[in-house]
Amino acid sequence: KVEPARKLALEATPVIRPRRLRRSAAMRRLVAETRWSPEQLVLPVFVRDGISSPVEIPSMPGQFQHTPESLAELGKRCVDAGVGAMIVFGVPRDEDKDFTGSAAWDAAGIQNRGISALAEAVGDELVVMSDTCLDETTSHGHCGPLRDDGSVDNDWAVSCYAATAVSQARAGATVVAPSGMMDGQVRAIRMALDDSGFEDVAIMAYSAKYASGLFGPFRDAVGSSLVGDRRTYQQDPANRREGMRETLLDLDEGADIVMVKPASLYLDVLADVAAESPVPVAAYQVSGEYAMIEAAAANGWIDRARVIDESLTSIVRAGADLVLTYYALEAAEGLA
Ligand code: PBG
Repeated sequence: KVEPARKLALEATPVIRPRRLRRSAAMRRLVAETRWSPEQLVLPVFVRDGISSPVEIPSMPGQFQHTPESLAELGKRCVDAGVGAMIVFGVPRDEDKDFTGSAAWDAAGIQNRGISALAEAVGDELVVMSDTCLDETTSHGHCGPLRDDGSVDNDWAVSCYAATAVSQARAGATVVAPSGMMDGQVRAIRMALDDSGFEDVAIMAYSAKYASGLFGPFRDAVGSSLVGDRRTYQQDPANRREGMRETLLDLDEGADIVMVKPASLYLDVLADVAAESPVPVAAYQVSGEYAMIEAAAANGWIDRARVIDESLTSIVRAGADLVLTYYALEAAEGLA
């Protein structure tokens, strides 16, 4: 039987020992290359019409559909915890959905009512953003009105987005975030905002947004009417270079912030965008990323707090300046 020696031969003894910087928690903390902090986190929130108290979303345990009033309360908690921003999604009643998704640009539509309630509650203490899209408000669940052949009519959708963005700015959003992946959407929204006197409202473009299976729980959260998928407008997960092309187009059209979505499975795209972008880069840790962590943790298969921290660290390490995450409030309040 061989007995390995406790000391290496002199020539084999390492001179450079990277482990020195890992020997204690204090040392690791001192030399950490990446840190995330509450002020860069953005909490996505849902406001639903026709409910009288918050409703938990089954596929996203711990996340709720809110009333405008409970959303305002949540906003105050986010302010106290130091969260950077919140982004509002609307969940209309089924009878308010239509072919074009007109509830999206209705001043009395649920998303705009939610934005107003939140903006009033938080003032300037955190940034109020709004998702600018039609998938929650169309009767067919697509991100814009359809042509006869069933495909989304790009330019018609874009003019609906422009109207929606202006209504959101009026409701009190200081950042609008077009997520429909229609060509030319950023430019058209910029022009419409400027025409209406909202030159100071910023655009955070969902630039590299992939047709991902990870949006599943979100579609429960917004009561989506979608049958089929969004592969004719969202990007093919196989394409890395195209993520940069979409980003460059959005920058050219006037995006103030660009986004990569989803985050964890697209860190290569995120790193590409972060290396080139002259504006802040956001990444969206989407509903399916949240649900996977929650489900594994609920089974006792992973250490929940540790994996949440690791996921945020990884997204920031890849180059995100802002992270949209359903963990924003919990992470800001302190992961137990
Ligand atoms: C479109 C939109 C979606 C998400 C954010 N904006 C849904 C989609 O593209 O199908 C998904 C967010 C998530 O999964 O957490 N309005």
